[in-house]
Amino acid sequence: MSEGLAARRVALDLALAVLERGRLLDEALEGSADLPRLAPRDRGFARLLLATLLRRLPEVDAALARLLAKPLPGKAPRTRMALRLGAVQLLHLGTPPHAAVSTAVELLGAKEAGFRGLVNAVLRRLAREGAALPPAEAARLNTPGWLWQGWVAAYGEATALAIAEQHLADPPLDLTPRDPAEAPALAEALGARLLPTGSLRLPPGAGEITRLPGFAEGRWWVQDAAAALPARLLGAVAGKAVADLCAAPGGKTLQLAAAGAQVTALDFSAERLGRVRENLKRTGLAAETVAADLLAWQPGRQFDAVLLDAPCSATGTLRRHPDLARHKQPGQVTELVAVQARLLPAAAALVAPGGTLVYAVCSLEPAEGPAQAEAFLAAHPDFVRDALAPAEVGGQDYLLTAEGALRTLPCHLAGEGGLDGFYACRLRRAAA
Ligand SMILES: C[S@@+](CC[C@H](N)C(=O)[O-])C[C@H]1O[C@@H](n2cnc3c(N)ncnc32)[C@H](O)[C@@H]1O
Repeated sequence: MSEGLAARRVALDLALAVLERGRLLDEALEGSADLPRLAPRDRGFARLLLATLLRRLPEVDAALARLLAKPLPGKAPRTRMALRLGAVQLLHLGTPPHAAVSTAVELLGAKEAGFRGLVNAVLRRLAREGAALPPAEAARLNTPGWLWQGWVAAYGEATALAIAEQHLADPPLDLTPRDPAEAPALAEALGARLLPTGSLRLPPGAGEITRLPGFAEGRWWVQDAAAALPARLLGAVAGKAVADLCAAPGGKTLQLAAAGAQVTALDFSAERLGRVRENLKRTGLAAETVAADLLAWQPGRQFDAVLLDAPCSATGTLRRHPDLARHKQPGQVTELVAVQARLLPAAAALVAPGGTLVYAVCSLEPAEGPAQAEAFLAAHPDFVRDALAPAEVGGQDYLLTAEGALRTLPCHLAGEGGLDGFYACRLRRAAA
C-alpha cells in the first residue's frame, strides 16, 4: 500500500469511529494502534485530513449532496466517508485531483466495490466544478444553529461570525514555558513567537511535539495561550497553599507548581490524574495529587487560593476539538450548568478567610461563565468580585469584561491564529 493511502485509510477509520460510533476525537487518536505506525509526515496528514473533515462536515456534505442523484444508502458508511475525505482533499487541502480521486476509490473494500464507479464519477465532477464557499458562508454553514444563535445573542453577529471563521482554520501550537524568564531563549530555540501574554506560539503542523527542543527536559508544556491565563489570576502564589480542583490533565497545576505554590491537585478521574503525575515528572515539578470527588472531599483544611477549572461544554475549544461541534447538544449545556452550580460552592468552602477563588470554564456559553459567577455572588455575601487588571493579561485589555472578568474568544489575536474561548473571574473571601 502506498504511504499516502495508508494515511488516508487511518483517517477513514478514525472518521468512522468519531462520526459513526460517537467517539471523542482525542480518545480515537490516542487509542489508534495504526496512527503511530505511520511515518511522521503521513501521521500529520491523517490528522489534518480528519480535523478538516470535522471542521467542515456540513459544507462537504452539502457539496456532495448536490452531485449525488440520490442519497447514499444508510448502510454505506465507508463509502460515504471515502467520498467525504476525497471531497475535503479537493476542496480544502489542495490535493492534486488524480490523487484525491484515485485514493478515495482505493479506500473502498470488496464490500463497497459496487460504489467504485460512483465515487470516481462524483469526485471527478467535484474536482472539475469546485464548490468552495466564501469564508463567511462556510463559517455559518459549519456552525450548528444552536451555537450560532447563542453566540449572536451573547456577542453580536459580527463577533459570532469572526468566531465561526476562526473555527475553520487549523490552530497553532501553544506552549507554556516552565520558567517565564527562559521564554525568549526558548522562543529562539523553537522558532516560536512569544505572545504578549507569555505563551510561545508555533504555526500549525509544527511536527511531533516530543521531538521539539526542550520537551524531554520539561522546559515547557502544551497549553493554549488562553488556557494559560486563569492560573495566573491567582497572583503571586509562591509559598502559598493552593488547591487546583478539577486538575487533570494538569496544565494549570504545572503553572502553579512552577510559580512556587504548594499545590494540591484534585480530580475525580484516577486515570486522568495519572496524566497530571506524568506531566509533573517530565517537568520536574511537585504537587500533591488527590483522586476524589470535589462534592464529597473533606480535607479538614482550607487554602490560601483555590482554582476551579470546572467541567463544561468546552465550546471555547472547537478550534482544537472540532468533533465537539458535531456531537454537542444544547441539553448537555443545561446539565453542565447544574453541575457547575454545585461545584462552585464546594470549591468556595475550601477558601480560607481573605483567600482567593478563581472560577474558570473553556466555554463560550454565558450560562456556564458570567451567569454562574453572578448566581454564586448573589448567594454568598462573604465573597466579592476582585476585578482583573489589564497588566494581568499581558496588557491586552480587550480580553477583560466591564466587570473585570476574563473573556477570551477564538477570534482574539485572530491574525496570529486565535485563542481558545475562556471565561474566568476572581472572587475574594472576606477576612474573618
Ligand atoms: C476542564 S477539565 C480540567 C482541565 C485542567 N484544569 C487543566 O488545566 O489541565 C475538568 C476536569 O474536572 C474533573 N471533574 C469533573 N467533575 C469533578 C468532580 N466532581 N470532582 C473532581 N473532579 C471533577 C474531570 O475529570 C476533568 O479532568
